[in-house]
Formats: sequence, structure tokens, C-alpha cells
Amino acid sequence: MSSNRWVPIGAGVGLRLPHVVEVVATRPSVPWLEIHPENFLANPHATELLLEARRDYPISVHTVGVSVGSVGRIDHAHLRRVRTLVDMVDPVLVSGHLAWSTHDGQYLNDLLPLPYDEETLRLVAAHIEEVQDGLGRPYLLENPSSYVGFDTSTMSELEFLCELVHRTGCLLLCDISNVYLSAHNMGYDPYWYIDGLPVEAIGELHLGGFTPEEDEAEPGAEILIDTHAACIADPVWKLYAHAVRRFGAKPTLIEWDNDIPSFAVLLAEAKRADEVAARALAPEPRHAVAG
Ligand SMILES: [Fe+2]
Repeated sequence: MSSNRWVPIGAGVGLRLPHVVEVVATRPSVPWLEIHPENFLANPHATELLLEARRDYPISVHTVGVSVGSVGRIDHAHLRRVRTLVDMVDPVLVSGHLAWSTHDGQYLNDLLPLPYDEETLRLVAAHIEEVQDGLGRPYLLENPSSYVGFDTSTMSELEFLCELVHRTGCLLLCDISNVYLSAHNMGYDPYWYIDGLPVEAIGELHLGGFTPEEDEAEPGAEILIDTHAACIADPVWKLYAHAVRRFGAKPTLIEWDNDIPSFAVLLAEAKRADEVAARALAPEPRHAVAG
């Protein structure tokens, strides 16, 4: 069911439309690229270029419009369009978010939060199975960036994700920046979260930039917004090193979606991710035993 193409371990870069022509023309040295299929579905020229790029780069497909958290049914027309692109690209990974973004046929430009309870768990598990069947591939589910919780939640996000893995066999895309900013916003320990994830289910890691803002609900307090519009922050690099020690080397993506810089800046962030991972995995220096 899964792609036979090689799954890369080093750090890749999100391929956004402003860089597609440059990447196809210059073939920069990067082990893999990730795309949002929704950016390409209505853009035949970009899709043509993407199919050229895939000859040289393993491609990962990261859906933003497949709403596994919606109360209503999965939009099968959209899923079929994504499937068509997936069949053409033959990606190494296909992923999406633990969130909802559609209601009654309306698409919202946001990834919205879910209450973590048994009813939502059953709904999301059924939708993940539908998506995996519809795409004919395993689906990696990404932990969200959180700003609010629900009083009705009966379990933590971590318990919810672990249970989804258990029920559906889906894999997880652990966005390290989302773990860091959600922990800050919601008041828990990001290291506790990383240490609670099932190692065998981790298929990919994300790193993205966030933007601090004053919390309107609590003047003087700071909230971190998942803008994907900045370099990776130092505490996220530290958390990434910890995650790599726990999960081992995994395909890691630099995500940058707003105020997109030159491709060289993205490559520099990917290089830094490789260096941080290599240092995290290097054996501890041996100390001479006095004797
Ligand atoms: Fe992400």
C-alpha cells in the first residue's frame, strides 16, 4: 500500500509556490521536499514543474484541507483530487493534521481544535481510516498548535493521539515547534509530551517558526502563534535534539509558509537541523577510567 520510494532521513524543506521554478531550474542540494497538495490542485503549471522535481527529489504530501476532525463526513470529492495528485507524485509520506477545517461544505482557512473525549476519538478514528482507504496509503497525523482547550475534554492531547495510533494504526508526524508552543500556551512540559509519544509510530518531524504576541485574554502574558514566518527558535532546537535522541533520526521538515524568505535561508535551516540531529546522536565521549 505504501510507496516503494526511498524515505529520506535528513532535513528537507517545504516547497512553496514562490520557489518551484527556482528549485526545478537549479536543483539545490536537499534530500527531500514537502508540498501542500491544495497549492497544486488548481495550478496545472506548478503541477507540471512538481512532476519534474519529483524525478530528483523524494516528495512528501502534507494535506491541509482533509479535515479528519469535522463532525460531518470527509469530503470525498476533495480526497479523490488529492488521490489523483498522490498517484502522480508517488510520495514517500502523506500526512495531515489533527484538527477540523470544514463544516457543511465550507472550507475555513484555519486548523481548528477538538475536544479530546471518547466521542471525538471514535469520529476521528473512523475518518482516518476513511482517508487511509481513500488515499490507498498510510496517513501520518500531526499534533496541532493549541491556544485553547475544552472543559469537556476527558483526556490529554497526548492520550488522544496515542489512542488514535492504537485504534487506526496511523503514524504520527510530530511537529516539535507545535509541541513547544502548545506547551507554552496550555501550560504543560514539552519534554513530558515528547517522552509520552509512542516511538514506533513517529514517521516524520516538523520544525517551524512562531511569533510571540500579547495574550488578549491575559494582559502581560505572552502567547506563541504558529505563524511559520520565522527561523526556528533556540528552545525548539533544544527540544528537537531531545526528540531525536528519543525517536532516532527521522525525516525532518523545515516549514515556512508566510513572509517566505529566499530558498537559501530554508536550506540553511535544514543544514542546522542536520547538525543538531548529528550532535544529538553522537556517542558520548568516553572518559578514561583511572586505574
Ligand atoms: Fe507542522
